[in-house]
Amino acid sequence: MTDMIVADQLVKDFGEKRAVDQVSLTVKRGEVLGFLGPNGAGKSTTMKMLTGFLKPTSGQASIAGHDVSTASMAARKVLGYLPEGAPLYPDMTPWSLLHFCAEVRNVPSELRRRRVIESIERTNLQSVVMQSIDTLSKGFKRRVGLAQALLHDPEVLILDEPTDGLDPNQKHEVRELIREIAPDKAIIISTHILEEVDAICSRAVIIADGRVIADGAPSQLAEQSPLFNAISVVLSTDKVQQARSILEALDDVQEVRVQSLAGGLAKLTVVPAASRLILNPVISTLGEAKLEAISIRPEASALEDLFRQLTVSPDKQEAA
Ligand SMILES: Nc1ncnc2c1ncn2[C@@H]1O[C@H](COP(=O)(O)OP(=O)(O)O)[C@@H](O)[C@H]1O
Ligand SMILES: [Mg+2]
Repeated sequence: MTDMIVADQLVKDFGEKRAVDQVSLTVKRGEVLGFLGPNGAGKSTTMKMLTGFLKPTSGQASIAGHDVSTASMAARKVLGYLPEGAPLYPDMTPWSLLHFCAEVRNVPSELRRRRVIESIERTNLQSVVMQSIDTLSKGFKRRVGLAQALLHDPEVLILDEPTDGLDPNQKHEVRELIREIAPDKAIIISTHILEEVDAICSRAVIIADGRVIADGAPSQLAEQSPLFNAISVVLSTDKVQQARSILEALDDVQEVRVQSLAGGLAKLTVVPAASRLILNPVISTLGEAKLEAISIRPEASALEDLFRQLTVSPDKQEAA
């Protein structure tokens, strides 16, 4: 299967600063790659080079086999790009902007109206199509950008923080939309929201200080975290000491972390030794000791924990 998106040792220097350092990645049709990293990691700069909007200091990028610098027209034809921030032309309405984009992208005139209407419907922009873009909320502006990226039904989508500024319902809609169109496209989305990666991405690449530091399926990456298979227990503060000591005494438990919550509650994170399965022993041990818990469930933040470990410098981690 051909690689629809290829970054080959991309480097970008801004003066003295190396913003992107030897980033290589490939995305095949049907894959959704989550491009993760803290602010300033180099996600947007990488995406601008992948889309041909920024010339790399060194390295190459290609879209559907077309080199983005030497065959940029062919590459742009099959590419939909949602840049960071708000769409251009704040004086236009979504309706006129989308018609304009359809024309610039050479969507045949007899198809334009239909494509514009389709992308308006897909991104739920119906209520604001005739309002000037600068009067729209951040969430609507984001969706205008997304509609513009989808307009020519491209095979490749590069979406820079597509859910940024959206409320939880809108985030959900955009994720559903991406999931729906994903099977026959190659997609990169950048985000710093980890749940997004679990929800829609088949692969995650983590970048920090311009370098790729992890690459794999979200579940594989989560397995690298010490919190993989950890159990979280919420109970009232007066039970914490006893619960902690009996759980720590279990064979397969490596460590119990304690965190205070509001309302006289605390959360214990029970970390297994060597990723062992400890849900049943935790439940039975607390039950035998008559320590009633408010909730006992698998800890969901293994990927988040790995992300923090990889991207936060040791001194900052100490302080957090
Ligand atoms: N045009 C530019 N000129 C100088 N520095 C830049 C420019 N664009 C980005 N940078 C710097 O490059 C680094 C990576 O930025 P960016 O790619 O926007 O990160 P991210 O999208 O991951 O938040 C940051 O340190 C940023 O300040
Ligand atoms: Mg960015």
